[in-house]
Amino acid sequence: MTSKKKIAVFASGFGSNLQAILDYQSASKPNGEVVLVFSNNKAAYALERAKRHKIKTACFSPSDFAGREEYDKQIVKMLDCEDIDLVVLAGYMLLLGKHVIECYRNRIINIHPALLPSFKGTHGIKDALEYGVKITGVTVHFVDEGLDSGPIIIQETVTVSQDETLESLEEKIHRVEHAIYPLAVDYFCSGRLKISGRKVIITT
Ligand code: GRF
Repeated sequence: MTSKKKIAVFASGFGSNLQAILDYQSASKPNGEVVLVFSNNKAAYALERAKRHKIKTACFSPSDFAGREEYDKQIVKMLDCEDIDLVVLAGYMLLLGKHVIECYRNRIINIHPALLPSFKGTHGIKDALEYGVKITGVTVHFVDEGLDSGPIIIQETVTVSQDETLESLEEKIHRVEHAIYPLAVDYFCSGRLKISGRKVIITT
């Protein structure tokens, strides 16, 4: 039997996607296990969730270091020490440094609350609603050096109703996020994702 993939989740805030991944993993026979939760924010509720599940946590921010390069080096050191196979960004509000992406290329995934390549950046839900789209959604993708630009793993649509509010749309988007992010993690950990240029093939 092959051993479980070791997962690090990076989260800066509430951590509902972290929770969805943990719930999925405790309800099934997963091929991966969250062994580390990292945050740049001491007050992140995601850290509390990790502690409740007895998962190791780490927390430091760029301001704890002389420069951004030192911060990035510390991140890579931490991941190497834990022998991490997959980094899952789940509401991590900082851009990952080049060094981290180079060292963990094709082993970092992110979730974005819009249908990429539309509405990149930190306000995907609000931007889509204000633009007046009738359909938006969620994207899970590999992380590369660009902003929300890596190869797409899964996308799922969400219909925007005529009387949609930011709150109601956020609720719909989060529901979809919590359904598809654990799946994408599972695909990766089961060795089912093959990257071919910009395309990601999910093998059976
Ligand atoms: C999610 O909407 C995700 O798409 C975005 O940040 C939010 C994180 O939410 N990248 P949570 O901390 O997982 O609840």
